Amino acid sequence: MSRLSFEGVRKDFGRVTAVAEFDLKVDSGEAIVLLGPSGCGKTTTLRMVAGFERPTEGQIRIGSNLVAGPNVFVPPSRREVGVVFQSYALWPHMTVADNVGFGLTVRRRRSGAKRSANLGGRVARALEQVRLDEMGSRYPHELSGGQQQRVALARALVTTPRVLLLDEPLSNLDSRLREEMRLEIRRLQREFAITMIYITHDRTEALALADRIVALNAGNIQQVGPPKDLYRAPGNRFVARSLGSANFLPGVIQDGPDQPAVRLGTGQLLTGVVDAGSQRRPGDVVTLCVRPPDLELSPLDGPMTPWSGVVRDAVFLGDEVHYLVDVPALGEPCRVVDRGIRPLARGARVSVAVAKGGASLLADDSRDADGHLLEPEDETDLPPPAAPPVHRPSHAR
Ligand SMILES: Nc1ncnc2c1ncn2[C@@H]1O[C@H](COP(=O)(O)OP(=O)(O)OP(=O)(O)O)[C@@H](O)[C@H]1O
Ligand SMILES: [Mg+2]
Repeated sequence: MSRLSFEGVRKDFGRVTAVAEFDLKVDSGEAIVLLGPSGCGKTTTLRMVAGFERPTEGQIRIGSNLVAGPNVFVPPSRREVGVVFQSYALWPHMTVADNVGFGLTVRRRRSGAKRSANLGGRVARALEQVRLDEMGSRYPHELSGGQQQRVALARALVTTPRVLLLDEPLSNLDSRLREEMRLEIRRLQREFAITMIYITHDRTEALALADRIVALNAGNIQQVGPPKDLYRAPGNRFVARSLGSANFLPGVIQDGPDQPAVRLGTGQLLTGVVDAGSQRRPGDVVTLCVRPPDLELSPLDGPMTPWSGVVRDAVFLGDEVHYLVDVPALGEPCRVVDRGIRPLARGARVSVAVAKGGASLLADDSRDADGHLLEPEDETDLPPPAAPPVHRPSHAR
């Protein structure tokens, strides 16, 4: 049984729809990351799980318990969820151990139980989980930012929540600490099989932490899947760009010997891109997503065509060279990442090709990377394929 489920959940604030229609089943021990830009409804979704917000429509279950639905609303204190927010707000006058134990004491008092002798043991265990077992008697100002964030994490874990909710918990930390804490959270989540919903707008965090990513845009789920699937085969431009840089190349479906293939304007024929069950027919114009390391540049030997490129910018980064290449047939420059064995200079004329297995077909190419509908003319009339270079024998001149 799923540990947490959303069925048709919607949340309106007056005329603003913060979450449009949210359906998701989260497995026990699964790490879900909600990824999306500011204002797309991430925090609202989390607050509805915690019980700080009531859905306008739909229902939420934790385990088999209905916690929010028509005529049902279980208050936050009875939901057994742990929450870590971006501003982790530790009590400055309390020691680390007291900060961690505080939530537990409040919860016990509310439920009428006496202060348990086991409180100290549970606090110690939570501090051990986040590797702060030596620091229980310190005060928050005696800790680094990363250590303070661990205290906040321990404070959520000490109640042994059924679901752990984290809302951009690392955004106050510098990049080195963020990376360290990211690994730490993943370790904890895996080791203790914690069911977790983690919010971020940072794609690296999403890729590193998730079993499945939920890509959100303007209150709508765009795609749900393991990080690799969303990165390698995004369903639309918005998801593609949410996970990293991407090039979008138009192509035309062609009959191939075994399965349909896609011909690019460069003349390159790509096989293995169209699924066997695809509804696409020969002649259909489609959009391919190609990640920068999957585009290959080679010096152009032959005349320029609308599909050849000119290197606009080349940035040497040690292991890699990042190129921006203007291709007249495309609306925006191509981004190419190369190992940089023989770097190309700015202004170099190049031909552009897709590496084997380096392209995926967008299921929905009707919207741009911000999720806005594209004008129909953007999708039509592919410029003609490049003519093969003409080699004239020298005596013909
Ligand atoms: N209490 C509220 N009253 C009115 N509108 C709200 C309220 N809370 C959120 N909203 C609106 O709902 C939308 C979603 O907000 P939410 O906080 O869920 O976004 P988010 O994805 O967490 O963004 P961020 O990355 O900036 O934290 C926004 O348009 C926001 O202004
Ligand atoms: Mg938020």
